[in-house]
Amino acid sequence: MKIKGFTEGFGGEITDLDLAEEGTLETAQAVQDVMDHYGVAVIRDQRITDQQQIAFSRLFGQLEFSPHFGRGDKDLVRMKFPELFDVSNLDEHDNILPDTDRRRVYRAANLMWHADSTFQPHGAGYSLLSARIVPASGADTQFADMRAAYDALSASMRERIEGMVVEHSTFYSRSLVGYQFTEEELKRRTATRQFLVQTHPRSGRRSLMVGSHASHVVGLPVEEGRALLKELGEFATQERFVYTHKWKVGDLLLWDNRCTMHRATPFDDTAERRDLRRTTVVGDLPLVPA
Ligand SMILES: [Fe+2]
Repeated sequence: MKIKGFTEGFGGEITDLDLAEEGTLETAQAVQDVMDHYGVAVIRDQRITDQQQIAFSRLFGQLEFSPHFGRGDKDLVRMKFPELFDVSNLDEHDNILPDTDRRRVYRAANLMWHADSTFQPHGAGYSLLSARIVPASGADTQFADMRAAYDALSASMRERIEGMVVEHSTFYSRSLVGYQFTEEELKRRTATRQFLVQTHPRSGRRSLMVGSHASHVVGLPVEEGRALLKELGEFATQERFVYTHKWKVGDLLLWDNRCTMHRATPFDDTAERRDLRRTTVVGDLPLVPA
């Protein structure tokens, strides 16, 4: 395999690699080295099956299970394995979700900047997203380099946020898009705490952890903490820290949730189909002492 960086330090393309043939531990370790430097990587023309995606993803660590799987939810009928997250605008019959479907609102949350699963105690490590059907235009995925953003903060801001703890919850992020929770969902309501500044366990680089799941700063008045999180989020997603990925069928995109954020951009989702499948490695964020 070869690597070509899009910029000096963020985002790269891996070429000369066919995961259907070479999805080995050795390959995964080489890809991981690339990720340590670039944070995000694309491998084009990977015509892999669901099983091959899951098997390759497992080489990076234990995989998350979709919270919907096995609950009889309609939107999981398309996915045959609990490790697969359905990133599509399709219903259980592979038809485009109607305007009125509440799953459409839930999925609209992907348009907000976030890292995956920061609401889980250990967050997420890598996510791998495979493109099966892509719309003709729009529906890009944008990534922000939270390491470069941290490095660019003023010394006084770095000092201010050092050691700060933030509460993350999917209930907060979904409420931002107007999602109406069912009684059953509210019973499962949870939140977790993460350090605002993270240190990457492999590269040692420091980064900001904010995003849509970040509800408030522990120990600060809620509005003051939210204003700070908003300020940091806007700072970190300036164009100079962002890579925009334009999807082609067969792309496999990998990113490290410990040091990047991402969001989807809109497309004509009532007329065009989009079918992407995500696998996610359970993270290793340090637990915040109570
Ligand atoms: Fe995501």
